[in-house]
Amino acid sequence: MHLTSLSALFTTALLAFASLSEAVLPGTWPPMDQPPPIKPEWVKLVDKKKLPKAPIQSAQAADCSKAVEFCIWSCNTCLRNASDVSTCPNDKDWGFSFDDGPSTFTPALLDFLKSTNTKVTFAVVGSRVFQNPEILQRIKEEGHEIVVHTWSHPALTTISTEQIIAEIKWTELAIQTAIGLTPKYMRPPRGDMDDRVRSIATQLGYKILMWDRDTFDWKSADDPNYQPSWIYDNFTQWVTDSKGHISLEHDLYEIGATNAPYAVSIVRKAGYTIKPVSVCTGTAAYKENVQLVASGPVPADEQIWGMACWDETLLVTRQMNYQTPNHV
Ligand SMILES: *[C@@H]1O[C@H](CO)[C@@H](O)[C@H](O)[C@H]1NC(C)=O
Ligand SMILES: *[C@@H]1O[C@H](CO)[C@@H](O)[C@H](O)[C@H]1NC(C)=O
Ligand SMILES: [Zn+2]
Repeated sequence: MHLTSLSALFTTALLAFASLSEAVLPGTWPPMDQPPPIKPEWVKLVDKKKLPKAPIQSAQAADCSKAVEFCIWSCNTCLRNASDVSTCPNDKDWGFSFDDGPSTFTPALLDFLKSTNTKVTFAVVGSRVFQNPEILQRIKEEGHEIVVHTWSHPALTTISTEQIIAEIKWTELAIQTAIGLTPKYMRPPRGDMDDRVRSIATQLGYKILMWDRDTFDWKSADDPNYQPSWIYDNFTQWVTDSKGHISLEHDLYEIGATNAPYAVSIVRKAGYTIKPVSVCTGTAAYKENVQLVASGPVPADEQIWGMACWDETLLVTRQMNYQTPNHV
């Protein structure tokens, strides 16, 4: 291990220590990972008469008989052009998105992104913003984009309109309280949405952020057979078409967060420019006037040490992965 990673490790350890003493978001907030209370003043923001009458599902994609009529993504990956963004429109633009944090794995990922001058998008869960406001502050200060990803991460087609509004607005309020910004994009948990969900989000001022390249890294949380090499192999294959893309990974899970640098390295080497999604789509990230920018060049010293180090580790990791079957 060379000096750069040692110092990154040291910084991470310091941050972890500091966060023990740092406060959660001030004020009174709903419990972690549970449906938050409905607020009448927020319910009024949505005109129920305008909502498409998509039936509330008993479970995600339980009833797909009206999948085409109501464009139910979980049934048929249906997207609506007017509200949904799932790719970077220009060739050789890449939007990385990391979901479900901020978590204890996020600071080390931020260290890597900072040292390589890489700008990405984080879709954050409100109750984890409450828990880790100082990490959200860092995400903002280091020029990444922040997207609303609900308070308790439910499948939105399965809950009431009032409850969807509460999931979005509590998260919006937590982000505003932590960093003073109001995102213009929201990402539905598990991509689960239909025209009712779209109309609610749109009436609350949001565009919907989806993706067109999925690593399925979340499976690593409870699948012991999940292979990190799948992430590298997926990216290696995806970059070959040179088209614009938005990828989905998770900074809540160790495998997703710790393998992200390899993915960034693969995409950069293929000649892509990595951009926050609002930058690659040429839209506003926030209601407030904040202009985000694309990633810049990797600093010279990182090119020699940092990136080379990641590539070297990638090589070793891959060899280990590839050897495993022969030794079973
Ligand atoms: C999306 O909308 C744009 C602008 O209205 C249009 O040019 C494009 O063809 C639409 N794409 C699809 C897939 O419907
Ligand atoms: C991409 O990842 C999936 C798991 O999410 C895996 O099954 C598949 O083999 C990977 N593709 C490549 C080309 O490695
Ligand atoms: Zn999620």
